[in-house]
Amino acid sequence: MVNVKIITNIFSKEADYYILPVYKNFNFRKFVSGKIADEIASLIKKNQIDYDYCKKSIFNFRDGEIRKIFFLGLGVVENLTTEKIRQAAGFAIKELKTFNAKSISTIPWFEEIDKQVAQLEGLLLASYHYQAPKKENKEKTIENIYITNFKKGILGDTVNICKNVYLLRDLMNMPSNIVTPSYIEQKAKEIARQYKLKIKVYSKEQARDMGMGAFYAVAKGSNEPAKFIVMEYNGNKKSNKKIALLGKGITFDSGGISLKPQSSPLSKIEDMRFDMSGAGVVLYLMKTVAELKLKLNIIGIMPVTENLPSGSAYKPGDILKTLSGKTVEVISTDAEGRLILADAITYAIKNYSPYIIIDIATLTGGCVVALGHYATGLMGNDKELIEEMKKSGEETGERMWELPLWDEYKEQIKSKNADLKNYGGGDAATITAGCFLKEFAGDVKWLHLDIAGTAYGVLNKHYIPEGVAGTGLRVIFNFLKKLEKED
Ligand code: BES
Ligand code: ZN
Ligand code: MG
Repeated sequence: MVNVKIITNIFSKEADYYILPVYKNFNFRKFVSGKIADEIASLIKKNQIDYDYCKKSIFNFRDGEIRKIFFLGLGVVENLTTEKIRQAAGFAIKELKTFNAKSISTIPWFEEIDKQVAQLEGLLLASYHYQAPKKENKEKTIENIYITNFKKGILGDTVNICKNVYLLRDLMNMPSNIVTPSYIEQKAKEIARQYKLKIKVYSKEQARDMGMGAFYAVAKGSNEPAKFIVMEYNGNKKSNKKIALLGKGITFDSGGISLKPQSSPLSKIEDMRFDMSGAGVVLYLMKTVAELKLKLNIIGIMPVTENLPSGSAYKPGDILKTLSGKTVEVISTDAEGRLILADAITYAIKNYSPYIIIDIATLTGGCVVALGHYATGLMGNDKELIEEMKKSGEETGERMWELPLWDEYKEQIKSKNADLKNYGGGDAATITAGCFLKEFAGDVKWLHLDIAGTAYGVLNKHYIPEGVAGTGLRVIFNFLKKLEKED
């Protein structure tokens, strides 16, 4: 994992490259002085440095030793959103990796706090590297980031959040024969022990005995022991208000008896190890809120299981009794995420009476069709919370787009044989999945984040180096931080 160190001036520590921003009116003399500063001024005068957005110019300077400076073009600053800064920082790191840079040093590119945070996020998130289990590993990685002159107080939180995104990406990258439900249980227990969080873990039989017929049905086809994990963080002892965070934790989604093909236009079956991303987000959010001591009470619920076909697997046509008492007709065993989440929603309501429920899941292929890889599908039953979450999406670069849960769509999941069916056909498949979950939230304020397109497979975003994005952690943390202020 990359180290971030605060130094006193950009050259005070030996680095392979020094990153300086270039845009109109940037006063580099505040950070660089002497002979090098004069040489830079003359390069600028001779138009040798490219000011355009995400363009690089590299020059060597001699100052006792050779200093390689990477000039990062930032273009027209008036157009520069925090997301563009994050991207530009990611671009610089991506380029520098190809030059085999191990250590880089930089300064704040702007005065504003939110821009400095975005810069750090971009540098850190782009420096992520997954160590695949190979004998020979030739991957180029950044080991040290030295920074100077940043505003006080922003470094700690930003580094913490980004390091938790690293852990989330690692969990996602590891294969499903390692990241089993038991592995996630073990990580949850480690976090609980370290931060003194309450934790409960139920087996599939215990879940069945408690009435979670939907979770049990999905779990019973696999020999890998399923885990229904509940973590509690009490950051505000004076309040009894609780927020429940729920994450879909399918460590491998084969589709079950409704078996998936090897590949479809939307996905390759081996990618279905990422179907635990929602649970991963919740797991590392629990760690983040504990580390950063958020003054909120948060319950993290992770139903974790494989979805496999076998002699004991659930089948299309089965009728399941959920914890809520509602019955569900199984149309497709591949629509398993909404089943385990339905029981998780009811479990949260029955045991904790939360005032807000947020669930996050790689729930539907339809979401990838609708929004591609650059927006999370956002649904819910509370207009204000939806707007707040959208705003958090803009602020963090983890953007969201709302889809409607109109009553008309509910017709598609009506069943003759049960209260609901688990699949409403190909039309508006993301929305009908949302409608299904809405039935279980009842009148509790609830948000649903479909990250099927944004958790992984994200290309062309410079700060997401390997496609595995780990989307959800930063945006929900930002959202929680705002609730903390309101409270
Ligand atoms: N985990 C998948 C959704 C998914 C698909 C995520 C592609 C990421 C990429 C989910 O469990 C699923 O299988 N959904 C199906 C349901 C349908 C066939 C009943 C879908 O949306 O295609
Ligand atoms: Zn799934
Ligand atoms: Mg499925």
